[in-house]
Amino acid sequence: MRFDIITIFPEMFASVFSGGIIKKAREKGLLQVEVHNLRDFTADKHRQVDDRPFGGSEGMVFKPEPIFAAVEKIRRTPRAPTYLLSPQGRKFDDRLARNMARRLQVILICGRYEGVDERVGRLLATDEVSIGDYVLTGGEPAAMVIVDAVARFVPGVVGKKGSVEQDSFSRGLLDFPHYTRPRDFRGMKVPQVLFSGDHRKIAAWRRKKALEKTWLNRPDLLAAAELGPEDKTALDEIRQEEKERKKS
Ligand code: 6GU
Repeated sequence: MRFDIITIFPEMFASVFSGGIIKKAREKGLLQVEVHNLRDFTADKHRQVDDRPFGGSEGMVFKPEPIFAAVEKIRRTPRAPTYLLSPQGRKFDDRLARNMARRLQVILICGRYEGVDERVGRLLATDEVSIGDYVLTGGEPAAMVIVDAVARFVPGVVGKKGSVEQDSFSRGLLDFPHYTRPRDFRGMKVPQVLFSGDHRKIAAWRRKKALEKTWLNRPDLLAAAELGPEDKTALDEIRQEEKERKKS
C-alpha cells in the first residue's frame, strides 16, 4: 500500500512518519509514504500555489493547476483514489480507513482552511474528506491521522490481527478497560474477575464494560450497534448501577 501526500509543508511530516509503528511498517516494505511539495508542480517563476478568491473574501485560495499537475503526475492509474482533505468533506471513519487499506495507492491532497478551488473537489478528487467537526489550519495533521489509522489495517503492520479487530469501533463499541500491575494502585484495585482464570466470565465482564464505556461516552455508537439479548440485560444492569451510584 502506498500513500502520496501533496502539501505546501512537506517538512511537517518527517518526524511523524519516522517513528513508531509507521516507521517499522515502512522499513518492512508494508507501507510506502511519499510526500510531495505542491510548489514543485507550479510553472511560474514565483512558484505560486494560491490566488485571491473571485467574489472577494478573506484569505487566499489554492489554484487548481498545480494540484491537477501533481495528481496527474503521481497517480499510477487514472482511477487511483484521490482525497481532498478539508473541513467540508465527508467524515473519515473506521470504514473508510479499512477501505483505503485495500488500495494499492491513495493520494491525499492537503487543503488549507481558507479554501481550495472547487474544481479540485469536483473534477479531480474521488471524495472530499474531513477528520472531525473542527477546523484545522491545513489538511496536514489530517493526512497524518489518516495514514496512521489506515496503516493499522494493512496486513502485517500491527503484530496480532486480533488486537486490531478487538479495538474500538471494529465491533461498533468502544474498547473495554485494561489493567496491569500493580494490583492496588493508590487504593484502586484491579477488578477481581481478571484473576479468576475463568475466561467466559472475563469475556462477559469485558463486554459489559465496553457497553458501559460506550453508553457513557458515545451513546450515538450504542444506538447503531448490534446488541444481543445478553447485551440488553447488561445494559439494564448498567443503568441500574448508575442510578444506585447517583443516589449514594
Ligand atoms: Cl481534513 N482539514 C482542515 N483544514 N480542517 C479539518 C479537517 C481537514 N478535518 C477536520 N478539520
